[in-house]
Amino acid sequence: MWTAITREVSPALAGCELSFVPRSPIDVVLARSQHAAYCRALESLGCGVIQLPALPDYPDSVFVEDVALVFDEVAIATRPGAESRRGEGDAVHEVLGSLRPLLRIETPGTLDGGDVLCIGKRVFVGISARSNEAGRAQLRELLAPYGYTVEGVATRECLHLKSAVTQVAGDTLLVNPAWLADASPFAGYRMIEVDPEEEHAANAVRVGDAILYPDCFPKTLARLHEAGINVTTVDVSELQKAEGAVTCCSLLLRTATTA
Ligand code: GLY
Repeated sequence: MWTAITREVSPALAGCELSFVPRSPIDVVLARSQHAAYCRALESLGCGVIQLPALPDYPDSVFVEDVALVFDEVAIATRPGAESRRGEGDAVHEVLGSLRPLLRIETPGTLDGGDVLCIGKRVFVGISARSNEAGRAQLRELLAPYGYTVEGVATRECLHLKSAVTQVAGDTLLVNPAWLADASPFAGYRMIEVDPEEEHAANAVRVGDAILYPDCFPKTLARLHEAGINVTTVDVSELQKAEGAVTCCSLLLRTATTA
């Protein structure tokens, strides 16, 4: 069974951090209803959803993925690279601490969950503006006892590693090669490339064998279908204006029973 931790959209969403996306008006009411539909879609894929209340003082707090990492054996409280985001994690960490042993990335390390892609026992970490070498080194040490390896992957022109690449099947990655400065760490995986006109299209959520995916990338969606990948789509347009993507809005963990 799967559990997803999510958090309601902050009323302050329009004041979010933006790095590579130009600021444009955000309809917070619409963002809330899109987020609710996203949570229902997760439920339709077999997830129990633990929804935390909105944090009015933290514009980006709907993007719970960045404040923690969850593995089968352990959870890790991250230390987000954007200072404005460092107080978002407390309630998420409390929930995770009840489900897993909880470890922490400490100062001077920074690490955003959006920069961390785990495939089996291989953990790829974006070398980005948000996640630094101290964060990667700490993660390597924290995960070594559980048999995980940690490899840095240089990104460019995008916020997080998972803006550029996500896993869509056991051996298959969805990738925007233009946003990976070096794709060699992924040699050996089957790659589906995004359509060049859909540069933000490499971010998909995988729940077991199911994929949750934005409905605004029809050309890349066709490529997923051609590859035999079954996809459920959601409209997350207002969250995308906040430089969020579908992985950002949940922390997924395998659980014995739904919450
Ligand atoms: N607005 C998402 C982030 O910058 O973290």
